[in-house]
Amino acid sequence: MSLSVPSATADSQAAFGQQSEAAFSQFLAWLRSRWGLDWSSYRPDYLQRRIGICMSAAGIRNYAEYVRRLERDPQALDRLRNDITVNVTEFLRDAPTFAAFRSVVIPQVVATKQKAGTSLVRTWSAGCASGEEPYSIALCFLEALGRDLGGLWVCVHATDIDEDSLQRARAGVYPSQSLKNVPPALAANYFRERPDGARVVGETLRGMLRFQRLDLLNDEPLKHVDIIFCRYVFIYFSRELQERAIRSFHQSLNNGGFLVLGRTETMPPALLDGEFVTVDSEERIYQKSTA
Ligand SMILES: C[S@@+](CC[C@H](N)C(=O)[O-])C[C@H]1O[C@@H](n2cnc3c(N)ncnc32)[C@H](O)[C@@H]1O
Repeated sequence: MSLSVPSATADSQAAFGQQSEAAFSQFLAWLRSRWGLDWSSYRPDYLQRRIGICMSAAGIRNYAEYVRRLERDPQALDRLRNDITVNVTEFLRDAPTFAAFRSVVIPQVVATKQKAGTSLVRTWSAGCASGEEPYSIALCFLEALGRDLGGLWVCVHATDIDEDSLQRARAGVYPSQSLKNVPPALAANYFRERPDGARVVGETLRGMLRFQRLDLLNDEPLKHVDIIFCRYVFIYFSRELQERAIRSFHQSLNNGGFLVLGRTETMPPALLDGEFVTVDSEERIYQKSTA
């Protein structure tokens, strides 16, 4: 990422100096020109809170001072960027969601493929962070179908806006503690242990994943997908953007495809009137209507 930034003018420096709404908007505009990302489409209260936390962690009291810090300290900029797109995740996060995925979604998708006589199953982890979610999806398929995946070609597309997270996902190296939810037999079969105790994703598991940087708000979405996981991502989006993203997932899914939103995201009621039907209201799993 280029570190040359448009400098704040004397006027904008003055505006940044006040902690008003206008100063905050101006600060967002500066961030946009700095990163080329439209952060203003995130919920303003969320952004203001996260940015405020970063500023106080750095002992900074106003936006003008923060702009100066960010201009001269690329690491502070990276910290802020990571903080805004918070990338906390874990293997098999929310066990009941994965249990429903294994018992309801996988069997239906397998049956559909068998009936159609096709073998490619395309799954998309949208907002995959450092890879724990897409690897968990692949592990569920391996657990349900065995190492040969019952002859299916299961491909898990793992996308995120944050390149650093994607790099960690591609590397596939995790502290052993982060595999605490993974059944020991699966961990033994699909990870290897490094001398320092870290677990490294094995070839079979890695071979099922494809990584790609993709901004859910601005980039062309994937197409012809059978299953989409999008969890703990929309919490940062305004209601309007959530609906736009879910409409776009509808376009991405094959007829009868599944959308797993998990326990934090909500399906706009308007989309349950034709576009999607509810499969599991607790785990927020939906199926694209075939009508
Ligand atoms: C809390 S993590 C969720 C990880 C995983 N889905 C899970 O449930 O464990 C949120 C992820 O969403 C990503 N994200 C935020 N805004 C995004 C956007 N506009 N497009 C794509 N990914 C985004 C962040 O970079 C972060 O890695």
